Amino acid sequence: MEVVNSIEDMCELGRLWKSDPETTVVCVPTMGALHRGHGRLITRAHELGNLVVVTNFANPLQFDRPEDLKAYPRTPAEDRAVCEKMNVHYYFEPSAEAMFPPGFLTTANVAHLGTRIEGEVRPGHYRGVCTVVLKLFNIVQPDVAVFGRKDAQQLVIVRHMVRDLNLAVRIEGVPTVREKSGLAISSRNGRLTEEQKTKALCLSRALKRVHFLVKKQGITHSGELLQAMRSAINSAGEDVTMDYARIVSGYSLEDLSHVERGNTLLLVAATVGGVHLVDSSRL
Ligand code: PAJ
Repeated sequence: MEVVNSIEDMCELGRLWKSDPETTVVCVPTMGALHRGHGRLITRAHELGNLVVVTNFANPLQFDRPEDLKAYPRTPAEDRAVCEKMNVHYYFEPSAEAMFPPGFLTTANVAHLGTRIEGEVRPGHYRGVCTVVLKLFNIVQPDVAVFGRKDAQQLVIVRHMVRDLNLAVRIEGVPTVREKSGLAISSRNGRLTEEQKTKALCLSRALKRVHFLVKKQGITHSGELLQAMRSAINSAGEDVTMDYARIVSGYSLEDLSHVERGNTLLLVAATVGGVHLVDSSRL
């Protein structure tokens, strides 16, 4: 595995690969602190192409609160070892100074898709995500980029940006990797005690409950389903506050009055012991 830190070197490699019809470059953008969820993305990347690039950049632009960026786990040596073991070909780890030098002014924003739901809880978050993802696409010039479905709103927004701006990259979504308990794996889980992890299961429980009500009881009215999601989260006890529970279109992120099979996203988020956790699922 080759580690690349310089943006110029990465651009040069990207240009080289682009001109080779035998090379299909698959990029896996990450912020490091790699876990099994990221691992699944890398495995999928190998299936989709013959040159896998993992990017590791804890993007300051997508953290609305500086203390969140500071608390973000950093495990650079372990991350590199994981990628090496997973036969990643190139590992791109630029510095924040190089990505956002003084005088950096331009941002990418997918209008209201980025300001609603998670965007309401974290103002500016998706502007930061889109800006860095667009930069990474321009630098690496991948044919395919792999994203997790866990961050469902992020995936919808990135797909939208790619379509709106005619970016020459195909976006691939990968199902959420979970603990045996059902808890969606996240780098933030490391900040939870065992007791809080148990409480955090209210998120996946809320999603499962909706699947049950739709599939086994034929309920499609969002009001009733949202009630069930909210009560699953609100009954998790002390230390848990619901941030949102939504049933939205998988394309426009608009609230749906009834679930439409094949085009419905369930989005939930709660703060558990001061840690903001998200989960989602498709219907
Ligand atoms: P990060 O949180 O490091 O996640 C990198 C990728 O891994 C994202 O596409 C995310 O959806 C996916 N992922 C995380 N946990 C997962 C899980 N349990 N199962 C499946 N996929 C999972 O998301 C970001 O970084 C950043 O916003 C980024 C896109 C890199 C831009 O900075």
